[in-house]
Amino acid sequence: MSLDGKVSIVTGGAGGLGLEIAKELARNGSVVIITSRKRPKLEIGCNMIGKNCYGFELDVSKPKSVAQFFKHISKDFDTIDILVNNAGFPFERDIWFKKVHDITDKQLLNILQVDLIGSFRISKEILKIMMKKSKGVIINIASTPAISGHSYGSPYTIAKAGLIGLTKHIALEYGQYNIRSYSIALGDVDTQAMRKSLSKSELQKARNENTLKRLGRPEEIAKSIASIAGENFTFSTGNTLIIDGGKLVI
Ligand SMILES: NC(=O)c1ccc[n+]([C@@H]2O[C@H](COP(=O)([O-])OP(=O)(O)OC[C@H]3O[C@@H](n4cnc5c(N)ncnc54)[C@H](OP(=O)(O)O)[C@@H]3O)[C@@H](O)[C@H]2O)c1
Repeated sequence: MSLDGKVSIVTGGAGGLGLEIAKELARNGSVVIITSRKRPKLEIGCNMIGKNCYGFELDVSKPKSVAQFFKHISKDFDTIDILVNNAGFPFERDIWFKKVHDITDKQLLNILQVDLIGSFRISKEILKIMMKKSKGVIINIASTPAISGHSYGSPYTIAKAGLIGLTKHIALEYGQYNIRSYSIALGDVDTQAMRKSLSKSELQKARNENTLKRLGRPEEIAKSIASIAGENFTFSTGNTLIIDGGKLVI
């Protein structure tokens, strides 16, 4: 698969799964723009990706930061072919284990601001660029609770379910511009954030919950995403792809 000549943006692409996705897109020939809220992470990330990487500061929860980001990238890039909305609010045990009746408005809004509204903000601007070129792919990183629900983490589920709605709208409203859109409903993936968030026994439970009896590897998730972004998937749009080791079999 070749992504030669393509320009991709991966939000939150300076670490974790986002960095693996950015590496894979670059390995397949794409120029990649990675974003982080923390400037030093951008240089480290780009050094790991190699040539054809550009790093920009971005906080998707802040409209001013989003405006600055687009002002900066418009100087160097007149086209964006692939957007991966990967940025996600950091896992906080305190929020995760609260039941719906204990979640505060602020906790809900903080998560929506990043995972859902942040992705909406970026997609909105990118769509204007993609429409001019009549091509593009937008991939939203959702999660299996968006489909199945979960007994914890309601703000996360709500935000990720909203992303699936956003994906469908982009597909239906912009298919006529040759813009495709997908949600990825991820299962448990072995990232640093995941290891930091869960205890050993919780990680073991997560492994046992899917049919392959292991966590996903960030590199294999990245390969699936690069494949969807490329030319192998061109007669499909609006879908939610479940990549979870066979936990949800629908
Ligand atoms: N790992 C899993 O098992 C799993 C399962 C399902 C879904 N997911 C989803 O996959 C994505 C990546 O997860 P991960 O495991 O790699 O966790 P992670 O390391 O915490 O990645 C989240 C990324 O989002 C960025 N971010 C956070 N707040 C932001 C903001 N306000 N503006 C812009 N960027 C922001 C962070 O970048 P900076 O700190 O550099 O700004 C970070 O790189 C997330 O959307 C997550 O919900 C992960």
